[in-house]
Amino acid sequence: MPAHVTQEKGRYTLDATTRLQYSGQASASAADEFARLLARSHAISLQPTPSSIPTSGAGIEFVLDPTAKLGPEDYRLTVGPLRIEVVAAQAPGLFYGAITLWQLLPPGRDDHIAIPAVHIEDTPRFPWRGLMLDSARHFQSPEQVKQLLDAMAVHKLNVFHWHLTDDQGWRIQILRYPNLTQVGGCREKVDMPGAGSQECGFYTQAQIREIVAYAAARQITVVPEIDVPGHATAAIAAYPQLGTTGQRLPVSNERGIHANLFNVDEGTFEFLDQVLAEVAELFPGDYIHIGGDEAIKDQWRASTRVQQRRHELGLADEAQLQAWFITRLEAMLVKRGKRLIGWDEILEGALPASATVMSWRGTDGGIAAARAGHDVVMSPSPDLYLDYLQTDTPGEPAGRPKTVPLRTVYAFDPVPAELTSEQRQHVLGLQANLWTGDIADLAGLEHAAFPRLAAVAETGWTPQADKDYDTFLARLPTQLRRYRELGIGYASTPFSVVLTAAATGEGRARITLSNPLGYPIHYNINGGPPDTSSPAYRAPLDLALPVTITAAAFADGKVLAAPMSRLIDATTLLRHEDEQLEQCAEDGPVLRMANPRSPEAGGLFNVAILAPCWRWSDAPLDGIGTIRVRAARLPYRFRLGSEEERRRRFLPATTAQGELDIRIDGCDGPRLATAAMPAHVDAEGLATVLAPVRLPARGAHTLCIRFSGDTRPQMWVLDQISLQPTDPE
Ligand code: ACM
Repeated sequence: MPAHVTQEKGRYTLDATTRLQYSGQASASAADEFARLLARSHAISLQPTPSSIPTSGAGIEFVLDPTAKLGPEDYRLTVGPLRIEVVAAQAPGLFYGAITLWQLLPPGRDDHIAIPAVHIEDTPRFPWRGLMLDSARHFQSPEQVKQLLDAMAVHKLNVFHWHLTDDQGWRIQILRYPNLTQVGGCREKVDMPGAGSQECGFYTQAQIREIVAYAAARQITVVPEIDVPGHATAAIAAYPQLGTTGQRLPVSNERGIHANLFNVDEGTFEFLDQVLAEVAELFPGDYIHIGGDEAIKDQWRASTRVQQRRHELGLADEAQLQAWFITRLEAMLVKRGKRLIGWDEILEGALPASATVMSWRGTDGGIAAARAGHDVVMSPSPDLYLDYLQTDTPGEPAGRPKTVPLRTVYAFDPVPAELTSEQRQHVLGLQANLWTGDIADLAGLEHAAFPRLAAVAETGWTPQADKDYDTFLARLPTQLRRYRELGIGYASTPFSVVLTAAATGEGRARITLSNPLGYPIHYNINGGPPDTSSPAYRAPLDLALPVTITAAAFADGKVLAAPMSRLIDATTLLRHEDEQLEQCAEDGPVLRMANPRSPEAGGLFNVAILAPCWRWSDAPLDGIGTIRVRAARLPYRFRLGSEEERRRRFLPATTAQGELDIRIDGCDGPRLATAAMPAHVDAEGLATVLAPVRLPARGAHTLCIRFSGDTRPQMWVLDQISLQPTDPE
C-alpha cells in the first residue's frame, strides 16, 4: 500500500501500440523492468525507447528528474486518460514506480488493459527491507538465487542478506583458500550414512559477481555473511588449524547448535583478514555481516591455548574474548571501507560504535543496541523467521513447528514503543530470514516465503498508520494472482480448509471447518467440489456418518486453493496423525522432520527431538481392544552443545529395537499397551505394530505415547495411531 493514493476519474488504456519512453539512461532499467513484467503477466510486449528530454505526449513515460524534491527511493506516479508518468529523482525510486505501475494492471491477457486513473506519491518507511537466505544448510543454484531476487524486486525489498558459511557448508569461493569450498562445500548425505555419498555446492566468484550485478539491476544490495567465531565447522573441516580442539572434523550434516569455534591464534586472524579481503572485493555494498551468533564457549573454556591468550590480553571471560574477536574483524572491515553488522550476540562485550546490530533473539538486542547508539535491523525470531510453519495444518511441509502465521508477520512493528524518538532513528528497518535446515529446494523456499514476505514488504514500506491487516487480506488474492502470473510458488496451506471431527454418539459427528486466514468457506456433503453456490459454512455441522465433506475457501467468488475432501466414519474418528497430537515435552525444540527415505512420499513427523513423546487428550477407550501404531525410523542428527546430552531422554529398551509404550493419565501412569518394535521397516522407512490393550480402561483418557530405546543413532517417531474396537462390527 503506497504512502499516498488519490483515485481519479477515467482510465488509461494500455495496448500493444502504447508508447513506452524513458528519459535519462539511468531510467532504462525501470522501463525495462515494467516491460518485462508486462510481457510476463499480460503477454503484451512494449519496446522501451529513450527520449532525450521529457515529453508530455501520450503514452507511458519514465522520467528521471534529479531536481525533483524526492528521496532516493521515492516516486510519483500519475495515470491519466492519455498519459502515464512516473517521476523520480534517482534510479531506485523510478524502479519502484515501475513495479507499482505493473501492480496497478488489472488481470487478464486482454489486448486492451484499462488502468484506473490515479495519482500516487510514495516513499518507503525504512531504508532496510531485507530477506536473508541460508545457502549453507541447503544450497541453491545461482538460477534459483536469481529467482528469489526477482521476487524480492516485486516486493520492493532492497537488501539480500546471504548466509554463506556455517557448520553444514562453506559456499563462497575464496581463491586463497581453495579447501574452504573443495572440502567445506561438501558433506555426507543424511540419508546415506556410511555410503560415502556426498552433497556439494558453492558459488564461484564469477557466479557471485553475476548475482551481485543481477541484484543491483533490481535495486538490491547484497550483504554477505561470514559467520564467526561459531558456526565454523565447515571452515575447520577445510583447515583444521583454525579450530580450537585440534580434532579433525567432518563438515556437519546435523542440526542444531554446534560447539566448534575458531581459535584465537594470530594465524586465524590472518586467515580471516584474507577471506574478508576477497569478500570485500566481491560485494560492493557498505555492509559485511560477521555472524557472531550462538557461539557456545565450551571449547574456548576447555582450551589451555585459548585461555593463555585470554590471560595475555587481560580479558575477564570468554564473552570479552568474543568481543575482542569481533573488534579485530571490525578493524579489518573498516580499513576496506566496509561496515560491520552482526547478530545481537555481538552486544555481549564492548562493541565498536560504528557496528550495526541485527536483532534476532526477539527485539531486546535491538532495543539495547539502539539505546547504546548502534544502528539496528530488526529480524526477530520467531516473528520474522520464515522457516517456522505458517499454519498448523497437516499439509504444512517440514519446518520448525512453532506457527508464525501471516497475521503475526504482518503485526510485527520494527520500532519498539520503548525507544525515544532519537533512538528510533537507529532502526534501519526489518528483515525476514529463510533458514534452510528444513528447506531443501526452491519450492520449499517459496512456500515459506510467500505470501508472508508480502506482509514483511508492507511493513517495510507503508506508513505505520496506514497498515491494516483486514485490508491486507482483502488485497492478498490479487497478490496471489501476480505470483501466479510471474511463476512464483506460494504456500497453499493458509488458503486451504482444515477439518476436525469428533464423535457425538449414535453414529454422528460434529464437523468443524476452518481456514487459517479466516476466508469464507463453502462446502458440499457427499458431492463434488464446492463453489460459491454451495452452502456457506457458518457453524460446526452435526452430521450422520459416514459422510464425505468437500470444502474450499473463497475470495471475490474465486476459489483460493484446491478443495479438501475427507471421508468421516467410525474408523477415521478413532485415528490420529502425529499432527493431530500434542507433544508431551514441556521444553526443548520440536522439529517437523521429513522422512529422508521418502521425501517424495510426503512423510513428515512432528518430534520433540530431545525427548520424543506424543499426547492424545480425550482418546475414547470404550470397547477398544488393540492400538495400531505406524512409526518411522529416522536418523537422529541434532546438536545443542553440552545441553543436548544433558537434556536428551529416552526410556530404556528391553528388546532389541525398543518398544512402543502407551500410558494413560500421564507418562508415569499405568501402561495401557506395549509392543516390541520390529527389526525391519518398509521401503518408505515405516513400520506398523499392533499393541493389545491390557487395562480395562473406559471412557476418555489422555494417552502418552513413546518408544523406548536410545534415540541415537536412530529413533522411532510416530506417524499415525488408530484405536481398534475389540469387535469391529
Ligand atoms: C540465528 O538464527 N542463529 C541468527
